[in-house]
Amino acid sequence: MGVEVTISYRSAKYALDFTKKLVQDVGGRILKKASQQKRISFKGEIDLVTQFDREAQRLIVDALRKNFPEYGILSEEDIDTNTDRAIKWIVDPLDGTTNFAHGLPIWAISIGLEVEKDILLGVVYDPNRRETFSGLKGRGAHLNGRRIHVSKAKRLEYSLLVTGFPYDIRRSKKNNLRHFNAFAVRARAVRRLGSAALDLCYTACGRFDGYWELKLSPWDQAAGSLILREAGGRITDFSGRDFDVYGNEVLGTNGYIHRQMMRVLNPE
Ligand code: IPD
Ligand code: CA
Ligand code: CA
Repeated sequence: MGVEVTISYRSAKYALDFTKKLVQDVGGRILKKASQQKRISFKGEIDLVTQFDREAQRLIVDALRKNFPEYGILSEEDIDTNTDRAIKWIVDPLDGTTNFAHGLPIWAISIGLEVEKDILLGVVYDPNRRETFSGLKGRGAHLNGRRIHVSKAKRLEYSLLVTGFPYDIRRSKKNNLRHFNAFAVRARAVRRLGSAALDLCYTACGRFDGYWELKLSPWDQAAGSLILREAGGRITDFSGRDFDVYGNEVLGTNGYIHRQMMRVLNPE
């Protein structure tokens, strides 16, 4: 029988403060280089990676390994070390790579800490706006140190939504286009920003009322899901079951419009 691992509030707070400084430092460095020529390689037909995704990852992973040698790390660009550990970092070194590659200033760094399959803390940093979103389980969510809350919109017709499309959009029938069409004529408007981490954080602070997406990876949503929940939001799969960062569906809302969105996602 395994021994359950827990982290004290002090250690969690230390890890949170460390992570905030780390993403601000790495984000600032990458931002300075953002106008330089990018070397783009392809992980899939339309799934890009640049040398700056890798550079951000190297800086983050080196710092985490040095300061938290006992924790595992799962990071997007082929880093998977000690992920069987009860405590592990889940890192997206650059979320919004397509935007970044095109010079569109909507991208972020996302780091979550998973303890016994549960996300304990999360930080998402947007260097372009100098916005640091953070959350600590049971202690609320913050934007640049100020407490944030989800919106109060009660009806889908008055709601601003956000979504994204999977990288297999050209090949798979489960490509979100049907859901997108359905929401486009029911909500006030639907946006597609290109960074799942920011989509979740923007829903957490009330800029969006609801967000849904398919086929994300744990690094896209680990930090943002915790931040949204700590801001008072609700997060599940499309059928209202418990959200799983390793799962295939995310529906994150202010709570009020959750069932209305579920009805659109699951038409009779
Ligand atoms: C992507 C972004 C995008 C989402 C994709 C993700 P990446 O992450 O979060 O918004 O629609 O599914 O893969 O590749 O830029 O880190
Ligand atoms: Ca991502
Ligand atoms: Ca990424």
